Amino acid sequence: MNENSHKNNKYIIVSILDNPEGLKVGLIQLNRPDALNALNIPMLYEVLNAYEAFDENNEIGCIVITGNQKAFAAGSDIKEMAGIETVEMYFRDKFSIWDRIRKIKKPIIAAVSGFALGGGNELAMNCDMIVAAEDAKFGQPEINLGVIPGAGGTQRLTRAIGKAKSMEAILTGKRYSAKEMYEFGLITKIVSNEIYLDEAIVLAKEVSNKPAVAVQLAKECILKSFDTTIEGGIEFERKNFYLLFSSEDKVEGMNAFMEKRKPKWKNK
Ligand code: CAA
Repeated sequence: MNENSHKNNKYIIVSILDNPEGLKVGLIQLNRPDALNALNIPMLYEVLNAYEAFDENNEIGCIVITGNQKAFAAGSDIKEMAGIETVEMYFRDKFSIWDRIRKIKKPIIAAVSGFALGGGNELAMNCDMIVAAEDAKFGQPEINLGVIPGAGGTQRLTRAIGKAKSMEAILTGKRYSAKEMYEFGLITKIVSNEIYLDEAIVLAKEVSNKPAVAVQLAKECILKSFDTTIEGGIEFERKNFYLLFSSEDKVEGMNAFMEKRKPKWKNK
């Protein structure tokens, strides 16, 4: 996948932001405003392809995904799902696309304004940090459609905010403000509606200025904590820690400290 292939995107806009201090930032803007960025399968493939292209691009340190002021994404596309039955869902397994989205190694930040509902909230929760505008609204309203979250919501929301609130959210379908979700622990930061994207980009640049191999191994370790025992996780962390001792940036980082200068990362 090269950068030019993104020019054919119908539902997203992809760009690369310069960052003089470090690696660049890959930006994806969901761009289906008439449907409040409802995620149909072709749109999800565009997001996946953009993620994977950024993941392979050595000039990119961190990825930001955003929507528009009114909606990050109002869920999976209900009109697309309405005519599909179990056999087709199961055998064509269209939602397996989310497994590939989950495997992106570089950190991803969601910049959320407006609605982040259903699959939209799941797309945000798949990210590693969420920067939300004050007016952002989060929820898993699938119960109102006779279904349940299908892109990891029951698992990720529960791990992020705990059983009590997750049960309430998923069984009632109720919507929560950015402030509530911040208090529950889903969100990294809330900022005013005008600057949510700028703030997410500032955070992405801050991460992009750090040594990329250590950043990615740290992300991998943190995510590991969700599906292993504490002992298994600590062993995993230690092996990644030892692995970094063969990176050029470990030598540079420690030498720079001892020589009282700023490190120059090689990102290898
Ligand atoms: N799928 C398809 N189209 C959607 C959509 C969705 N999830 N959400 C909004 N739209 C469309 C509307 O149908 C409407 O299109 P038309 O103009 O052609 O009628 C357009 O976007 C604007 O929406 P509204 O007129 O409804 O806007 P509103 O401001 O009055 O309401 C809203 C906003 C409360 C978010 C409302 O649109 C809504 O409830 N949307 C559905 C939210 C939802 O249930 N999401 C979960 C989907 S299921 C899922 O995500 C499964 C999963 O786990 C993966």
